[in-house]
Amino acid sequence: MSGAGESNNPDLKVGIPDHALADGEMLVGHVGEDAVLLARRGTELFAIGATCTHYGGPLGEGLMVEDTVRCPWHHACFSLRTGEALAAPALTATACWRVERRNGCIFVREKASATERRMPAKPRPTAGPPERMVIIGGGAAGYAAAEMLRREGFGGQVTIVSADDAPPYDRPNLSKDYLAGTAPEEWIPLRPPEFYTENAIELRLGTTATGLDIAGRRVVLSGGEALGFDKLLLATGAEPIRLQLPGAELPLVRTLRSLSDSRELIARAKNGTRAVIVGASFIGLEVAAALRHRDVEVHVVAPEARPMERVLGPALGDFVRSVHESHGVVFHLGRTLAAIEANRVRLDDGAVLEAGLVVVGIGVRPRLDLATQAGLTIDRGVLVDEYLETSAPGIFAAGDIARWPDPYSRERLRVEHWVVAERQGQTAARNMLGRKERYSAIPFFWSQHYDVSIDYVGHAQAWDQIDQDGDIAAHDVTLRFRKAGRTLAVATIFRGRESLAAELAMERSQSP
Ligand SMILES: Cc1cc2nc3c(=O)[nH]c(=O)nc-3n(C[C@H](O)[C@H](O)[C@H](O)COP(=O)(O)OP(=O)(O)OC[C@H]3O[C@@H](n4cnc5c(N)ncnc54)[C@H](O)[C@@H]3O)c2cc1C
Ligand code: FES
Repeated sequence: MSGAGESNNPDLKVGIPDHALADGEMLVGHVGEDAVLLARRGTELFAIGATCTHYGGPLGEGLMVEDTVRCPWHHACFSLRTGEALAAPALTATACWRVERRNGCIFVREKASATERRMPAKPRPTAGPPERMVIIGGGAAGYAAAEMLRREGFGGQVTIVSADDAPPYDRPNLSKDYLAGTAPEEWIPLRPPEFYTENAIELRLGTTATGLDIAGRRVVLSGGEALGFDKLLLATGAEPIRLQLPGAELPLVRTLRSLSDSRELIARAKNGTRAVIVGASFIGLEVAAALRHRDVEVHVVAPEARPMERVLGPALGDFVRSVHESHGVVFHLGRTLAAIEANRVRLDDGAVLEAGLVVVGIGVRPRLDLATQAGLTIDRGVLVDEYLETSAPGIFAAGDIARWPDPYSRERLRVEHWVVAERQGQTAARNMLGRKERYSAIPFFWSQHYDVSIDYVGHAQAWDQIDQDGDIAAHDVTLRFRKAGRTLAVATIFRGRESLAAELAMERSQSP
């Protein structure tokens, strides 16, 4: 007889009765030290690692969709057949085991050997001169594209040109655990340095692309060098909007976009300092939470009546405010800054706040210079078609700069979400290889405030109704943002599977 602990986490090598796993169900057990997810689809059985390779989310609590499983934390998607990380934010495959059914029992046998679809994959040699793929931008979209080119077996040249000095890193963490001091340095790079050499991905760091000659198929780099390309991806991201007021250039005034920005904030966030955060945006408030973790006194100054109301509605806005207040953050809402001095700020109502650090989080602007100067079609972003191709054939755009036709909202969207940028990079890479794959993923983002994570799928610019199910204060809620009876977006707190189910429902109802 097996104890409760064992039946909850069965030894899959020893086997489980066939009837213990129904069609369409998943179960988590173990094989030796490994947590293994066993899944059944019709007569087929699959076994893969039960832990998401992004941040360790429990795949057993996720959603099985055909022969894939989606992670309940940030919606990564894995193949149940091979363990491949099919959709970002996970980029690394999980392990995969052989399953056997015998004498009315299911057994998980040996680990399957790596397949070609798993990273890292070695570039394959090509016949004839190698094609040259150039990617401008070493962020979410740029990195994901380079990796996908190799995963798809592309054997030509892959070059990432990045203005940043650091190899691609986990940008969302810069305002969360890393800034709070709870994430070690080694969590931040997306890959170790040897990954780029092993996969023949040339990284040109600290290099800005200053010109794009579409007809001549060349990018001009800072320093004057010209880099030829056959296909190009623009993934230049966005940059923080700066304050325009007296004192805005003083050294205590900072923004947060890059790893070096985050390090600069850490260096200035001494215990006992007072930080004034300008803007109650996602980044501003994540910075507030991280700085409170460092015992920095935090005041937030923002013009709106409620934080995040425009995106999350009044109830979640009030909740976010109360969470921050319970951690000691002081809000000055309905206020703007009038001036900044060496160690204080002046508000528009004349109030003065002492400040050792001012963090400006008032939004970002897509970096469009290169695309504009090259004559690409621009509409509050680089306009791309459903294949993420710009108005110039063979030149693609992805991430924060791209405005794409979203089949679910039936609008052209440009958003600033990590998962969207990575997935667009992945799709753009396949289309650079001629696959003609439509980008149709439903937008998803998450935002972390202390121990509360808010998940959001879809995109609601405006709504006429918000349906609430559950209790926001109990951190157990689903909010549906609806317009003319149609659900445009769904926000959840600690309801990962519901968020995944909402994403799937939106996918299945979008126009072909
Ligand atoms: C602190 C922070 C926290 C965030 N947290 C979240 C979150 O929790 N959830 C979420 O969904 N999203 C989050 N985001 C947003 C998310 O990080 C972005 O949407 C995403 O990084 C966009 O990817 P991208 O590839 O378009 O641009 P980026 O990741 O910004 O990369 C752009 C790259 O292009 C380079 N570049 C720009 N111009 C040039 C040029 N001319 N030549 C060469 N290189 C150039 C830049 O140096 C950079 O390397 C956060 C953003 C920040 C800053
Ligand atoms: S932990 Fe699985 S997607 Fe982030």
